[in-house]
Amino acid sequence: MNDAKEEIKSRLAVEDVVGQYVELKRAGRNLKGHSPWGVDKTPSFMVSPEKGIWHDFSANKGGDIFTFVMEVEGLSFKEALEKLAEKAGVDLSKYRGGNPNITKKKLRLKEALGLATKYYQACLVRSEPARDYVFYKRHMNRGTISEFQIGYSPASGKALRTALEKRGFTERELDDAGLLNQYKSDLFKNRMMVPFIDTGGSIIGFTARVLDKSEPKYLNTPETLLFNKSRFIFGLYNAKEAIRRSGFVVIVEGNMDVISSHQAGVKEAVATSGTAMTEQHLKTLSKLTSDIRLAYDGDAAGIKATERAIMLAGDLGIELTVISNYHGAKDPDELIQKDPALWQQAVEERVPAVDWLLNKYEENLNLRSAPDKKKYSDIALKLLSYVKDEVERATYEEKVASRLGVEVKILREKGDRLNQKLEQAASHRYLKKPQTTVVPEHIKKLENSLLALKLFGGITKTDIPLEVPEDEVRIDELELVFNNDHEGIKSPNYEKEAAELLKRYEKELNKQKIAELTEKLATLNEDDAKYDDLIREINALQKSQK
Ligand code: UTP
Ligand code: MN
Repeated sequence: MNDAKEEIKSRLAVEDVVGQYVELKRAGRNLKGHSPWGVDKTPSFMVSPEKGIWHDFSANKGGDIFTFVMEVEGLSFKEALEKLAEKAGVDLSKYRGGNPNITKKKLRLKEALGLATKYYQACLVRSEPARDYVFYKRHMNRGTISEFQIGYSPASGKALRTALEKRGFTERELDDAGLLNQYKSDLFKNRMMVPFIDTGGSIIGFTARVLDKSEPKYLNTPETLLFNKSRFIFGLYNAKEAIRRSGFVVIVEGNMDVISSHQAGVKEAVATSGTAMTEQHLKTLSKLTSDIRLAYDGDAAGIKATERAIMLAGDLGIELTVISNYHGAKDPDELIQKDPALWQQAVEERVPAVDWLLNKYEENLNLRSAPDKKKYSDIALKLLSYVKDEVERATYEEKVASRLGVEVKILREKGDRLNQKLEQAASHRYLKKPQTTVVPEHIKKLENSLLALKLFGGITKTDIPLEVPEDEVRIDELELVFNNDHEGIKSPNYEKEAAELLKRYEKELNKQKIAELTEKLATLNEDDAKYDDLIREINALQKSQK
């Protein structure tokens, strides 16, 4: 990999790479410009063409072309390497120890999805109902439609499949790209097509909406070699420039909220697509900015999502705020349809996420009643345990105490007691059970087959609850598993197989759980408070095995 790095470095000048983001002026042997992180008044960004490095004196960071692209685009090293390799015309597969297949395969899938996008775009132009929906129901303008590459999938069964087969793609490739359903005809039919664009600008999947009130409202690409929903951030490709410029990001709930927001001039909006926020999502965004604004709904789900974000944000040094004034609209899109200016304004009127949550808790309780005071202090203290900064936490503790009408000392005592309990529980668990339980071989094997199906079987009906690996060697391995599992089978039915395997897998997991609990039961006294609970849990598991 180092050879590849050196080869790329020798072909690309640092001033050319950096120059795409920063306007550079000669200053002696070096070049100077403004910090791309937007914090300096006078130029504080230096580039040394001789040494091939850069340094930012206001943001206190620097490095070579790879670290620059990583920082400025929020990419991992691997992604930066891939991006610059393409720019330099270096074939990375030559430098990799035996995974050129996966790289090639990924390129092929991207090609198929790129062509599918073009096809859907052409269909939009030809379909009057689809045009009506996009232009008049969703109020998208031409610029937005072309920026987000919106299209339409026709109602006929195999239109896309036929079109792409004419271009030389096989059924297997289209399946692996997530374009086919279980009957191997088009997965997306009669829907508005919104592509998932990765940070490099490639299409890696779609979210597809019905034009009317039928169900399901949205259909998304299943997990594939390219699309991983716990990593993908919708709209980031179109937003990263604005995020860098204005130094903040707005996370909205729906993909359509992202699109409307961009059209309304708030181009810092992104969404986690069809899934709750994960640590990976937050990590990616925190590389671009520390000012993260959540624009979730004010309902129970929105509260849960905000709590989750606060827990995840823990050590990342992020300032989480909440945008909540929708003037009665249900989501940003609805607000924007009312008046884009209201949304532009809302994005500025943000409150710290902890304050917002404390207010929500209070709204849902009656703080004059003692039981509700207990509840309020329980959830508030739990929330505050995620506030890392001592001064900030102390300030909140005072606020909470005064709302409860108790001395802050009492609140802190309760907080300490709760934390001790948590720590005890944690250390107990640690002592009693080895942290990493050994996964038996037959369960591992099932996991591999399931993951292989998830990646290469184009599964759309069964939700396989296993995380798709990122490691290419591992993916290579899973392709081997997939081919091996289906060798000599004439017409494999991957959907059926996935459903059956998943059932078996869950059964095996249950079996293992029962064995573990039974073992634990043997260590307990019959009069132990947990004894009955354990027996009940074991019984329930045994029943579900039938
Ligand atoms: P919403 O039902 O709030 O949809 O779901 P929305 O974003 O307001 O969509 P429009 O305005 O009716 O078109 C929020 C998000 O949940 C996911 C989608 O990502 C959606 O953006 N979702 C919803 C699905 O994946 N499938 C569904 O059937 C519904
Ligand atoms: Mn909506």
